[in-house]
Amino acid sequence: MKHLLSIEQLQGDEIEKILSLAAELKKDRKASPQVLSGQQWALIFTKSSTRTRVSFEVGVRELGGQAMFLSGADIQLGRGEPIKDTARVMGRMIHGAIIRTFAQQDVVDFSQYSGIPTINALTDDEHPCQILADLQTINERFGSWKGRRVAFLGDGDCNVARSWIWASARLGFELVIGAPKEFQPAADFMARIPGKTVSITDDPKAAVEGIDAIYTDVWVSMGKEAESTERIEILRPWQINAGLMKGAKSDAIVMHCLPAYRGKEITDEILEQQAGVIFDQAENRLHAQKAVMVTLVE
Ligand code: CP
Ligand code: NVA
Repeated sequence: MKHLLSIEQLQGDEIEKILSLAAELKKDRKASPQVLSGQQWALIFTKSSTRTRVSFEVGVRELGGQAMFLSGADIQLGRGEPIKDTARVMGRMIHGAIIRTFAQQDVVDFSQYSGIPTINALTDDEHPCQILADLQTINERFGSWKGRRVAFLGDGDCNVARSWIWASARLGFELVIGAPKEFQPAADFMARIPGKTVSITDDPKAAVEGIDAIYTDVWVSMGKEAESTERIEILRPWQINAGLMKGAKSDAIVMHCLPAYRGKEITDEILEQQAGVIFDQAENRLHAQKAVMVTLVE
């Protein structure tokens, strides 16, 4: 495994290996293998970030490397220099790249033209690092993701939902996408998903029934701000609140990749009740991503 570009491109056993390494690394941060010693890694971000930026900067350093943050707006990329040129320049100077941007193709192109390990830190298509940390959190809560039922509620066509869909297909656990028709995964995308582990419903009550982990994400993903009013209106019935949770299993956990918009996709009450799980997800970004970087340079 040379890059982490998507969950789509991972095999089930590769995911399992990363998760088991992430659990090991979490046990003792001070004992992190110094596999990035002498290496320079760049974070190239053209979208905002708190968790991803901090966890990668800390993670690179804990593995013995040095991290440099490059805002897309500050480097020539923001003035139109092609990604393939940026990639060829950086490939001659640095040892790894972590990229957050809009088009998935940009991350793919960077990996090909730079020749250095490249990690997708969120694109419009996928958020693979998030889902690895989420699976780690599910393993911690339930012992294993095996046999667990997960539901993603809200914008079922967003990057986080798509990465969940691929995770379900690759690992074989049951995933329910609960979303109104307007925000269900696109048919051409679903046509690419192997197996029958993913189902889609437009009924919020049905979506949470018998589910172990109920997941939501912001209704207005980065880049979709112009659709804000319409999205909030259509997605309102999909809020995770006390009423909806009455129909869920009493021991169901609620997950959120953060940042959360209280009063929109989740109420303050539910977020605070589930803060233990939700902030474990955030912390696990560090451990899961360190496991990814170790795997890429092995
Ligand atoms: N969940 C997540 O990726 O958070 P940031 O946008 O803050 O990095
Ligand atoms: N779907 C969200 C995830 C943020 C971490 C977005 O793309 O903005």
